[in-house]
Amino acid sequence: MRFSTGFIALAVFAIVTLTTAAPTLNPGGDNQTMTALNYALSLEYLQAEFYKQGLAKFNESDFTNAGFDAKVRDRFTQIGEHENEHVSTLTSAIRSMNGSPVPMCNYSFPMDNVTQFLAAAQALETTGVSAYLGAASGLSDDLSTAAASGLSNDLVTTAASITTVEARHAAYLNELWGQSGMPYAFDTPLGPRAVVTLATNFITSCPYNTTVKPFAQLTAWLPAAGSNSTKVTTSFEGNGANLNSTYCQFLFGNNVTVSPRDECALPQNATGYVYVLVTKDRTPLTLDRDSNVLAGPALLFNNGTQSTNGTNSA
Ligand SMILES: *[C@@H]1O[C@H](CO)[C@@H](O)[C@H](O)[C@H]1NC(C)=O
Ligand SMILES: *[C@@H]1O[C@H](CO)[C@@H](O)[C@H](O)[C@H]1NC(C)=O
Ligand SMILES: *[C@@H]1O[C@H](CO)[C@@H](O)[C@H](O)[C@H]1NC(C)=O
Ligand SMILES: *[C@@H]1O[C@H](CO)[C@@H](O)[C@H](O)[C@H]1NC(C)=O
Ligand SMILES: *[C@@H]1O[C@H](CO)[C@@H](O)[C@H](O)[C@H]1NC(C)=O
Ligand SMILES: *[C@@H]1O[C@H](CO)[C@@H](O)[C@H](O)[C@H]1NC(C)=O
Ligand SMILES: *[C@@H]1O[C@H](CO)[C@@H](O)[C@H](O)[C@H]1NC(C)=O
Ligand SMILES: *[C@@H]1O[C@H](CO)[C@@H](O)[C@H](O)[C@H]1NC(C)=O
Ligand SMILES: *[C@@H]1O[C@H](CO)[C@@H](O)[C@H](O)[C@H]1NC(C)=O
Ligand SMILES: *[C@@H]1O[C@H](CO)[C@@H](O)[C@H](O)[C@H]1NC(C)=O
Ligand SMILES: *[C@@H]1O[C@H](CO)[C@@H](O)[C@H](O)[C@H]1NC(C)=O
Repeated sequence: MRFSTGFIALAVFAIVTLTTAAPTLNPGGDNQTMTALNYALSLEYLQAEFYKQGLAKFNESDFTNAGFDAKVRDRFTQIGEHENEHVSTLTSAIRSMNGSPVPMCNYSFPMDNVTQFLAAAQALETTGVSAYLGAASGLSDDLSTAAASGLSNDLVTTAASITTVEARHAAYLNELWGQSGMPYAFDTPLGPRAVVTLATNFITSCPYNTTVKPFAQLTAWLPAAGSNSTKVTTSFEGNGANLNSTYCQFLFGNNVTVSPRDECALPQNATGYVYVLVTKDRTPLTLDRDSNVLAGPALLFNNGTQSTNGTNSA
C-alpha cells in the first residue's frame, strides 16, 4: 500500500462472499442473507483489528505529539469498541440462523504514525458506510425470528443501525481534518467488487477463498491545492496510454459523473469523499452494473480548499 501524501486516504475493507469456500464456511450456500451477513462480519473484523493494532501502537502522547487533542484517542477507543460489538452481534445473528461465521483473515495496515492511522480510519469508515449501503438490498426482511440484536430482532433494522453508527464515525473523522462531517445529502453505495478492491491491500492472507474478484488497483491524485486544474490523475497497471477511449467516473453522494479520462474532471460538487473508477465506456456505473470497470475505485477526499490525496494502489 502506498500513500501519496501523509494525509492519505485508504480504504479498507473486507470482503467476502464465500460461495466457493469450503462448505463448512458457507452453510448458507447461496443464501443471500447469510452471504450478506458474513460479508458484513468480514468487514467488521477488518475494522476491529485495525483499531486494535492502531491503539496498541499509539498512546496518548503520540496523539498529542501529532497535534491532536488528548480526547481523540478516547474516541478511537470507543470506535474500536463499537466494531467489536458489531462483530459479536453479527456472529450471534449468523449462529442464530444456523449459519457459520466466517473466520478472520490476517491483515496488515499502513500506520507509521498517528496521522496516517487517523487518515486510514477516515477512509475505512467511509468505505464501511458505502459497503453497508451496497449490501442493504441483499438483506431480506422476512427473517424476523433471527435474534439479531437486543432491541430489534429484524436484520434490516440491525444492519441499518450499524450503518448509521459507521456514518457517525466517518463524520467525526472528517471533522478531525477540518472537513465537513456531512458533505452530501446522500451517501454512496458500493458493490462488493468495488469494496473488495479497496480491501484487498489490507488482507495478507485468508483461510478461505472468496468469489468476489477485485478490480485492478487504481491510483488517483487530486489536482494540486490552489491550482486551477480540475484534472484528477489516474494510473493503473496495464492502463495503456490510450486516455481517449477510457473514462473517469466519480461517485459521490448519490451522484455519478463521467468524464473522458484525458480530462478526468473532478466534479465541482464533489466536495467531500469521492470514489474514482476508470471505465471503458461512458455508461454511468450503477450498483448492479459494473462490467465496464477497468480499475478502481480509489478514494479521495476533497473539501474544495484543501484536498487530500488518496490511493489504494499497492
Ligand atoms: C506519517 O507517515 C507517512 C507514511 O510513512 C508519511 O508520509 C508522513 O509524512 C508521516 N507524517 C508525519 C506527520 O510524520
Ligand atoms: C508513548 O509511546 C512512545 C512511543 O510511541 C513512547 O516513546 C512513550 O514513552 C510512550 N508514552 C507513555 C506515556 O507511555
Ligand atoms: C437463509 O438461511 C436462514 C438460516 O439458515 C434461513 O432461516 C432462511 O430461511 C434462509 N433463506 C433462504 C431464502 O433460503
Ligand atoms: C478544508 O480543510 C482544511 C484543512 O484540512 C480546513 O482548514 C478548512 O477549513 C476546510 N474547509 C472546509 C470548507 O471544510
Ligand atoms: C495469520 O498469521 C499467523 C502467523 O502470523 C498464522 O499462524 C496464521 O495461520 C495466519 N492466519 C491466516 C488466516 O492466514
Ligand atoms: C483457494 O484457491 C486456491 C487456488 O485455486 C487453492 O489452491 C486453495 O486450496 C483454496 N483455498 C481454500 C481454503 O479453499
Ligand atoms: C496529490 O499528489 C500529486 C502527486 O504527488 C501532487 O502533484 C498534488 O499536488 C497532490 N495534491 C494535493 C492536493 O495534495
Ligand atoms: C486561474 O485562472 C484565472 C482565470 O483564468 C487566472 O486569472 C489565474 O491566474 C489562474 N490561477 C492559477 C493559479 O493558474
Ligand atoms: C487521442 O485522440 C487524438 C485526436 O483524435 C489523436 O490525435 C491521438 O493520437 C489520440 N491518442 C491516443 C493515445 O490514442
Ligand atoms: C451530478 O453532479 C454533476 C456535476 O457536479 C451535475 O452536473 C449533475 O447534475 C449531478 N447529477 C445529479 C443527479 O445530481
Ligand atoms: C451543485 O449543488 C448545488 C446545490 O445542491 C446545485 O444547486 C448545483 O446545481 C450543483 N451544481 C452542479 C454542477 O452539480
